[in-house]
Amino acid sequence: MQKPKVLVTRRWPAAVEAQLSERFDTVLNTGDKPLNEIEIRDALRSFDAVLPTVTDTVSAKALDVSQPQARILANYGVGYSHIDMERVADHGMMVTNTPDVLSECTADIAMTLLLMVARRAGEGERELRAGQWTGWRPTHLVGTKVSGKTLGVVGFGRIGQEMARRAHHGFGMKIIVQNRSRVPPDVLAKFNAVQVDSLEDLMPQCDFISLHCPGGPANRNLINTRMMNLMKPDAFLINTARGEVIDELALSRALMFETIGGAALDVFDGEPRINPDLLQCDNLVMLPHLGSATREAREAMGFRVVDNLTDFFEGRDPRDRVS
Ligand code: DGY
Repeated sequence: MQKPKVLVTRRWPAAVEAQLSERFDTVLNTGDKPLNEIEIRDALRSFDAVLPTVTDTVSAKALDVSQPQARILANYGVGYSHIDMERVADHGMMVTNTPDVLSECTADIAMTLLLMVARRAGEGERELRAGQWTGWRPTHLVGTKVSGKTLGVVGFGRIGQEMARRAHHGFGMKIIVQNRSRVPPDVLAKFNAVQVDSLEDLMPQCDFISLHCPGGPANRNLINTRMMNLMKPDAFLINTARGEVIDELALSRALMFETIGGAALDVFDGEPRINPDLLQCDNLVMLPHLGSATREAREAMGFRVVDNLTDFFEGRDPRDRVS
C-alpha cells in the first residue's frame, strides 16, 4: 500500500523526522525557510497531510483551493490561531495540535519572564555586557519582591495551571483566575485560587498578570489601553500566549509613561518583526518565542504529531483533534 504523502514545513528534531520518514512518504523542509501562503496552498493541493507550525499562515488565501488533496493539518504546537479554522472546516479537513507536552516548559518561561522583569535581570545583563557596571551600591537596579504577591492568570488551561502551580507552591503567590468557563472548584483548590468573572475584576487586584489564553481574532487586543489603565501603577504584564492578545502600541505607551511597572514578552504581534517602540522600553524583557524550546518538549511535540497522523491514516480518531 502507498504511504500517505506528508509535508513538514520546518526542521523538526532529528529523531522525529526519522520516525516520520519511516511511517510516511515524507518531504522535509531541509532549508528551514518559512513557507509563504502560496507555497502552503500548493502543498494543500499535492500532499495528503501538511504539518504546519506557528510560522505558517494557513489563511483564507492559502486555503483558496478548490479540491485540496490534504485531509489533515497536523499542527506542531498547541496554539493554532495561525490557521483559519472556518475555511478549514469548509474543506472538511481535520486539525490536530500538541497539548500537554509543552505546558511545563512554557510555564517555566512565563515564570522566568516574571522573575526577570520583577528583578530587573534584563537591564542588569545589558548594563554588564555594555561594560557600564560600576559596582554594588544600595540603590542599584532595585526591583520588586515576588514572594507573597498576587498573580492574575488569564486563561486557566494546562499552561495557566502550571504557571499557578509554580507561582503558588514555589513563591507563595496568591492566585486570581479569569477564564472563559467556570473552573471546577477542585482545580482552583490545588492553588488556593479564586476565580473572578471578568478581566475588569482581575486587573486592579494583581501585582503580576500572566496571559495564557488563546490568540486569534476573538482575543486580538484583549489587553488594551483600557485594561492597562486598570492595572496597579507598579504591576507587571507577562505574555507567553500570542502577541496579538496585547495592543503593542498601547503597551509601549504604558511602558514609556510608566503607567505600569513593566512587561515581559515571549510572543509578538506579527513576529519575528518587533514593534520598534517596544525596543526603546527599558522596563520590558523580551524573548524570541522560547516557551516550548526545550529538547524534551520539542521532541514530545513531534512524536505527538506522528501519533495523531498515524491514528488518522489508520482510521482512528486522533487524540488531539481540535476540529
Ligand atoms: C505553541 O505550541 O503554541 C507554541 O507557541 C509554538 O507554536
